[in-house]
Order: sequence, then C-alpha cells, then structure tokens
Amino acid sequence: MSKAEEIKKLFEEKINSITASEAVEELRIEFLGKKGLVSGLMSELKNVPNEEKKEFGRLVNVLKQEIESAIAQKKEELIKKEEEAIINSAEQYDESLPYEINMGSYHPITLVQRDLERIFASMGFAIEDYSEIVDDYHCFEALNIPKHHPARDMQDTYYLSTENQLLKTHTSAAQNAIMKKYGAPLRAVFPGRCFRNESTDACHENTFFQMEGIMIDKDISISNLIYFMKTMLSEVFQKDINVRLRPGFFPFVEPGFELDIECLICGGEGCPSCKNSGWLELCPCGMIHPNVLKHGGIDPEEYTGFAFGLGLTRLAMMKYGIKDIRVFNSGSLKALSQFKNE
Ligand code: PHE
Repeated sequence: MSKAEEIKKLFEEKINSITASEAVEELRIEFLGKKGLVSGLMSELKNVPNEEKKEFGRLVNVLKQEIESAIAQKKEELIKKEEEAIINSAEQYDESLPYEINMGSYHPITLVQRDLERIFASMGFAIEDYSEIVDDYHCFEALNIPKHHPARDMQDTYYLSTENQLLKTHTSAAQNAIMKKYGAPLRAVFPGRCFRNESTDACHENTFFQMEGIMIDKDISISNLIYFMKTMLSEVFQKDINVRLRPGFFPFVEPGFELDIECLICGGEGCPSCKNSGWLELCPCGMIHPNVLKHGGIDPEEYTGFAFGLGLTRLAMMKYGIKDIRVFNSGSLKALSQFKNE
C-alpha cells in the first residue's frame, strides 16, 4: 500500500468515527494543517525520482481534494444533526397558545383625570387645556390676588428668567383665559400640572395635578356647587359620598369653602387616615368673586358662578390607596404599572 493510500485509509477510519462537528476541525488540522499528514507527504516529493514526481504530486493533490471535500460534507452533516437535536429537545412550540403582549399602562393620574373628564363631559362641561407657563396676571392678578397680597405666600413657585413668566401654581390660572374665550354662560373643567416651591415629603410634592372647574350662568348658587361635587364624587368612587362645606379663604371666591368628604376608610367614625375627624379635605371651592368675573369680561350683576380646584393627585391617592405622593413622579414602573383602568 502506498503512503497516500495509507493516509487515505487512516482518514476514512477517523472521519467515520466522528460524531461532533467540533471534532471535524481537529481532523482537518491533523491531515491538512501545515504540519499535517498530507503536507508531510508533499514534503517527500524531493525524495521521489524525477520521472515519478509528476504522478506523485498529482496523487497527493487528489488526496488533498478528497479529504477537503469529505471534511466539508461531514461538517455540514454534523451541524445539521446538532441543530435538529437542539430543536427537538427544546420545549415544544405550540401555535395555539394565546400570546401575551406586554402593554404599558396608564399613569394613575391619567386614569383619574380621564374618569373625571368623562363624568364632567356627561354633565355638559367643556374640557380645556392650558399651558404650564403662565404670567403673573393670569396666576394671581386676574384672580384678585394683587402684588404683595399675603395669599401669594402660600403659592411660591418657580419664576422663569423671561420677564413675568412662572410655572402655574394652580389650575385657577386658566380661569381668566377661559372666561374670555367663551363668555357666559359657561361650564368647563381644565386639568393641569401645577408647581410649587415646596420641599417634598410623603404628602407634599413640587409638581402635582389639579382639575379646576367653573360654572357660570344666571342664578348659580352654592346648592349647584354642592350638587355637582356630590354627583361627581359618587361617580368617581362608585358609591354615595357625604360631603360638608367649611369656610375657606381664597381671594378669588366669595364665599370660599373647603369641601370635605366623609372618610372612605372608616365611614365617618374616625380613624388615623382622617385624623379621627371622620372627614377628609378634598376640594377647595366657592362662588367666583365679582372681581374675577369682571377681569374675565363677564358682568357680575348678571351672572354668578362657582369654581372648584380638585386635587387630582390627592384624589388618585385616595382612590388607589397610595400613601406616598412621591410615587407619582418616581418613574417607577413597578409601582406605576399596577393601576389598570377597570
Ligand atoms: N386654586 C386654589 C388652590 O390651588 C383652589 C381653589 C380653586 C379654591 C377654585 C377655590 C376655587 O389652592
């Protein structure tokens, strides 16, 4: 048997015993590598008599090609087998299984806001949007809060470097523009983000949401205000809610009130959540001050109206039992994705 035949036989034995694609490469190196058997054979060419050199060279090349193609074929074959084995051993794919789409969820403020918008729209209120940057006139002056009025102390905010511009401290800042836009009679709610220069803790945030509402018409009285608030709250909480009014001071309403709701946790008996009073403060409100109507271009002799400033953030805390106000702006998906629209 010639040397070439010996190498071929050895190669065939070896390749037939290979079962993993990785071993094919080792075999290639053993036979075709720089120091491999075929190269070794080629280096013997110098010892072959001249007249046989040509034939010898041809045989070695044929051997080399045979080995090359056998290796390529084997490699392909084994890789295919290995892939099939992986597919077969994997957990079976079931086309009929329902699939889960990981949808995002609405922010709790958005949920409460939409709920309220739906309720107020059903009672004939327009829903308005208003900017977050306002001027001193809209935020204070038009609301009967002149410069240096002590009521401004409660609403320190962020002033922009542009003259007279600030981040609105309450949604009441939109009242004037909306009165001018529609005139009387008028029913509108306007939700919005508000800002105050406040140090934060579980109950205070520098950025929070309110929903303002105004209703202006002939002969609007406090009983209209109570009726709309009660109806809205019963819808939000899906049960009858008892409310009470306490006097409250805001320069843009006269008389002004704090509207409390009976504590939802203890039902009015008194518990830690309501500081044992049985009532929770929810919504400042009152009858729109004649000066505010005048600023808005509405004749206070002819029209009266009420306004309320519902704390959306507060309401969301109560509705969803969120104890720390900082959750809302935390960006924590773990916390915020728990709230789903029913
Ligand atoms: N804008 C007031 C505040 O944020 C609340 C308010 C609105 C009071 C409407 C009365 C009427 O404190």
